[in-house]
Amino acid sequence: MMGEAANLLAKSKFAIAFTGAGISAGSGIPTFRDSEGLWRRYRPEELATPSAFQKNPALVWEFYRWRMKKILEARPNAAHYALAELERLGVIKAVITQNVDDLHRESGTKNLLELHGNIFRVRCTSCDYKENLKESERLEEFVSSKDLPRCPRCGALLRPDVVWFGESLPSDVLERAFSLARKADLVLVVGTSGVVYPAAYIPYIVKEGGGRVIEINPKVSAITPIADVFIRAPAEDVMEELLRKVRDFIENGSRQRERLKTL
Ligand code: OAD
Repeated sequence: MMGEAANLLAKSKFAIAFTGAGISAGSGIPTFRDSEGLWRRYRPEELATPSAFQKNPALVWEFYRWRMKKILEARPNAAHYALAELERLGVIKAVITQNVDDLHRESGTKNLLELHGNIFRVRCTSCDYKENLKESERLEEFVSSKDLPRCPRCGALLRPDVVWFGESLPSDVLERAFSLARKADLVLVVGTSGVVYPAAYIPYIVKEGGGRVIEINPKVSAITPIADVFIRAPAEDVMEELLRKVRDFIENGSRQRERLKTL
């Protein structure tokens, strides 16, 4: 399985990656729908919807500040680093993620599309004010405060710049993601249940365009039926080996081309 996946990746012309919460599980960040998942312990309709925020912004902010703290304790794992290295090698052209945890960026991925936003960004509920708390270096103060955060420009409530249930995805990001998927001849799907739309269209678009689907997940997901190669394992355990094998294929290929040139 691993050899076949590596061979397909090495031969691909335009590969993309599509990731979900499972890629960050090895970094200690809980997923949503596994047995210890967030939506098994908390009710999303009370914490991650526009009406929940309207009804009880203090509770929603308590939840998001708690998640920010958890995520701040986490570091990218071997799977994030392997994806970043596959991009550096020119194999992966973009990483499309449903995650809001910033770990792909932390691990060095450059062409990153965040479909569901980023937990370290906030935006105003009234004007167009946006702030990246990592860049403004206000993160520590923000996370430890108990006050409801207010917009420094107009005084209205700030909210996390993430997509909640019932909300549309940022249309520019979604369009770019779909256009990459239409162009891709391979998608590496890592750690998603594949049940949340429109994000979950990505692998289907690639497949319908004649591309290959490689999946890494310790459990069968909604994507598995269309996977050409299914590596049934935790991403952090197998992605370094996958990267090594892709490198071997690329190096052997270029050695062979060199030999042919000298014949
Ligand atoms: P889910 O919690 O639905 O699925 C996580 C997937 O990761 C499952 O298929 C697990 O089997 C798999 N998994 C668990 N551990 C893994 C590991 N170590 N390596 C690889 N895979 C592993 O999370 P998502 O599919 O990301 O939306 O959920 C999609 C969206 O639903 C999220 O972006 C979030 C949530 O509601 C928003 O916040 C808008």
